[in-house]
Amino acid sequence: MERTFVMIKPDATSRGLIGKVIARLEEEGLRVTAMKMLLIDKATAERLYEVHRGKPFYDGLVEYITSGPVVAMVLEGEDAIARVRRVIGATDPSKAEPGTIRREFGLGIRENVVHAADSPENARREIGIFFKESEILPWKGDLG
Ligand code: CMP
Repeated sequence: MERTFVMIKPDATSRGLIGKVIARLEEEGLRVTAMKMLLIDKATAERLYEVHRGKPFYDGLVEYITSGPVVAMVLEGEDAIARVRRVIGATDPSKAEPGTIRREFGLGIRENVVHAADSPENARREIGIFFKESEILPWKGDLG
């Protein structure tokens, strides 16, 4: 069983898409084992996106991700990291595969509905920014 970190972004929470995004992930057989809605402060945004520091889009990204509520989640499942990334699609919604979350709901390359960890190392690091181990619930068997 693999863990990954997923975050529903302000463009999606503000458009009432929280339920739709979580439904897609659950339909894929992934289980939510931790979840919280919060406003991210600047320091946390900078920590989450530290690999992007210095890139042309970095300042705008930090401003956007702190502009409204996000939903941070831990999802678990077999091969969860790759499966979540397949369901959400490419960073740029216009380049994402039809049927993916970003293709269906994304507004643009920054306002792209959802963030997901891209490797086991980043999943661990990102989960650790938002959750204590005691806040992640035990897996209770297969979905469906
Ligand atoms: P995410 O998967 O959260 O990882 C980094 C984020 O930076 C990305 O989704 C987008 O929200 C944003 N991003 C990536 N590339 C660009 C870009 N070229 N212009 C604006 N925002 C970007």
